[in-house]
Amino acid sequence: FVKTGGLADVAAALPVQLREMGADIRVVLPLYAKIKAQFGMHMRHECDFNIKLGWRNQYCGVESLVQRGITYYFIDNEYYFGRDYIYGVFNCDEAERFGFFSRAVMDLLPLLDRVPDVIHCNDWQTALVPIYRQDLAGRWDALRSIRTVFTIHNVEYQGKFGPETVEDLFGLDRGWYEDGTLQMDGCVNLMKGAMLCADAVTTVSPTYARQLHQSAYAEGMESVVQRCGEKFTGIVNGIDTAVFDPATDPELTAHFSAQRLRGKADCKKALQKELGLQVQSDVPLLSVVSRLVGHKGIDLICESLDVVMQTGCQLVILGSGDGQYEDFFRYAENRYKGRLCAYIGYNEALAHRIYAGSDLFLMPSRSEPCGLSQMIAMRYGAVPIVRQTGGLADTVRSCQLGQEDGNGFVFADYSAFDMQYVISQAVNLYRTDIHRFRQVQKRGMTDDFSWDASAGAYESLYQHITGQTRSTK
Ligand code: GLC
Repeated sequence: FVKTGGLADVAAALPVQLREMGADIRVVLPLYAKIKAQFGMHMRHECDFNIKLGWRNQYCGVESLVQRGITYYFIDNEYYFGRDYIYGVFNCDEAERFGFFSRAVMDLLPLLDRVPDVIHCNDWQTALVPIYRQDLAGRWDALRSIRTVFTIHNVEYQGKFGPETVEDLFGLDRGWYEDGTLQMDGCVNLMKGAMLCADAVTTVSPTYARQLHQSAYAEGMESVVQRCGEKFTGIVNGIDTAVFDPATDPELTAHFSAQRLRGKADCKKALQKELGLQVQSDVPLLSVVSRLVGHKGIDLICESLDVVMQTGCQLVILGSGDGQYEDFFRYAENRYKGRLCAYIGYNEALAHRIYAGSDLFLMPSRSEPCGLSQMIAMRYGAVPIVRQTGGLADTVRSCQLGQEDGNGFVFADYSAFDMQYVISQAVNLYRTDIHRFRQVQKRGMTDDFSWDASAGAYESLYQHITGQTRSTK
């Protein structure tokens, strides 16, 4: 319904997969203006009530929509969600908006036809749910059987607010702060609270889960991660293989698969034309589809630009983010006219065509909880060049040094020199041994990145914390 990053892909695909496995699953999300404009007229008004947020008393409507057998509940409040951004743009009342949302989820529970066994929350915006569940369970019987899961999609965004929010906004006793559950370094940290209150805490890849025990990656949360002990695990994301399928993707000029690669050459040609690059089939085309922010390793790309261009490849960048990077790539496009295209902005359809038309895909992230684009790239036959971190380490296997099972190129240290070195290795392989290049490419195209295994892991987790198996329903 709405998207700013990989979380949207997960929120769209995981419920569908769980439902196919037999779960009764409902999804609750805010009725953002963008969703209302596009889907509002198809929604059903379920109910409305008022919500108390400290001294505030706010209207809350619940609208619903059924898609692919799943009921979606949209929390409606014009004042909080009728804006032209989703979150993170202005930080002035984020605590209030998502405090309201989390409270709405709790107040919706008694109105549902059944009490859920598990509430699975994602990122700090929903972190208050496990906290409220804990807070209210003492006097609200129905809540006692509910188990909560909290998933961290990126530890950088923790939901830090002033101590006054505890009572004034969230309507919680100050004890929650004083006893250290919500307190971290002198302010409220909602992620910490959720990690301590939830029955299980997960993040989106096993490597990232291990990294979060270390201060170099955990953004100050390592001690909380350690306190979570066994209840903290990593489950790698999948991708929606029905949506990301080069054999059927409606956005592409031609279709292809690992068995019939011919259409990929047509996609490359069409992409070069569309982006104003020289139409040359034998020049390796390297692409980047990414938010242009620090942790994605964009500074390494900027630093290495001339060296990368000297390999003779073409380069395509799609994304938006920090102004300094946007300017850098706009300028670079002028310098390398016909060989470099920088599309500043986001365009989902074009992203599909870039994956399909590229030979190589670059993702040198400084940290990467999971990362979805490297998996999409592989499925479309763009061989990934990644830094060995987080989910990148769990999905890309190196083909260097004679490793026979590799599906991409990997470098370990966060260094421009190391990245340049593997890029030149990749370009060389393409130029001098296309047969072996195709093997690496086909391995990535046929690897299983579907949600099957990951959704199975979530189901086992739900079973573990509830002590139930599916057959008891
Ligand atoms: C965040 C992470 C990304 C992950 C996505 C979905 O956007 O930065 O690595 O793939 O969430 O879990």
